[in-house]
Amino acid sequence: MRSDPLSYLSAELDTLKQQGLFRRLRILDGEQKSTSTIDHRQVVNLSSNNYLGLTTHPKLRARALDALERLGVGSGSVRTIAGTMAIHMELERRLASFKNTEAVVVFQSGFAANAGTVAAVLSKDDVVVSDELNHASIIDGCRLSRAAIKVFPHKDAGAARRVLQDLPGNQRKLLITDGVFSMDGDLGALPALCALAEEFGCIMMVDDAHASGVFGRNGRGTIDHFGMHGRVDIQVGTLSKAIGALGGYVAGSRALIEFLYHRARPFLFSTSHPPAVAAACIAALDVLEEEPQIIERLWENTRFFKAGLQALGFNTGLSESPITPVIAGEGALAMKLSDRLFEEGVFAQGIAYPTVARDKARVRTIVTATHTREELQFALDVFAKVGRELGLR
Ligand SMILES: Cc1ncc(COP(=O)(O)O)c(C=O)c1O
Repeated sequence: MRSDPLSYLSAELDTLKQQGLFRRLRILDGEQKSTSTIDHRQVVNLSSNNYLGLTTHPKLRARALDALERLGVGSGSVRTIAGTMAIHMELERRLASFKNTEAVVVFQSGFAANAGTVAAVLSKDDVVVSDELNHASIIDGCRLSRAAIKVFPHKDAGAARRVLQDLPGNQRKLLITDGVFSMDGDLGALPALCALAEEFGCIMMVDDAHASGVFGRNGRGTIDHFGMHGRVDIQVGTLSKAIGALGGYVAGSRALIEFLYHRARPFLFSTSHPPAVAAACIAALDVLEEEPQIIERLWENTRFFKAGLQALGFNTGLSESPITPVIAGEGALAMKLSDRLFEEGVFAQGIAYPTVARDKARVRTIVTATHTREELQFALDVFAKVGRELGLR
């Protein structure tokens, strides 16, 4: 009999189990909401990216249903063959006007937008200068591009400058940062990096996946928040987080977008969104314009919960956004914290290496606009109890 050529995978999984890092997928029994039923247990949900509660917003549901009835369940093709429907173009126009850029291209996910774009605009003679905590999709895009990769310490524009000073003036350079860092909730050093990009002639790119719908006027993101319009050549956003549905997009000049239509591989070689998803995203943009009070509620909840965790004495890092980490240290301890919180009725996912540094494992909390004060106070009480039990406060 043939021996299993994949047996080494089971050995790696056994190692994860021994280290207390093996995770079972938690299963949502119903909708993605502020209190959800997960693994048959009702818990206050502090783990989603559903910042504005739009996954279940009635306007998004109604428009998705309407598109489903009128246009069917799928697009049936990649965009460049037969899969560009009028509703895809409408979504791109709406996003371009939202982001205040000439044009937008929508990808199947934020991951595909980052990886596909970096890999398309750079090649092996180029260099990318990247914050050390940038998202995995940026890192993969850099690897796929075959450009040289220079990493600077988190948010350290001085270090980025030293990297740039040592590079040949005529080499093509991409300077890239997350707008909001997904595991720490702090903001990229946008003003300083934009100034560097101008000084050294770099392409400036910002991944605003966690900022769109959260920062800036009506949720226009960190470029708007910092007043950097016109100074960022490539803006990435996601439709999977605050927008509540699925997808990613790149906003920039008409030439950039036309180029990506021709060269971004996830765009060229993967089927476009079902029309209902595009319709839900357009409805979400309407909500951002018509109901900005939802964003204000998100921020009120953020201030309340972050202050509560800090008052309890947890290490919450340097977060400036609705993402607040509770840093435990060892991976196994973070997983224990997450498990105990869950048993007590709070879902905050544990996150360990390789997603974060080995000694900075954490549970990551994300509040949404739809959490009630009672839910957040309950979560704080549970954090207080479990944190004391595990010696974290
Ligand atoms: C910073 C950042 N960029 C990009 C992505 C990818 O977005 P999506 O979930 O739409 O693929 C994520 C999501 O995990 C993220 O946190």
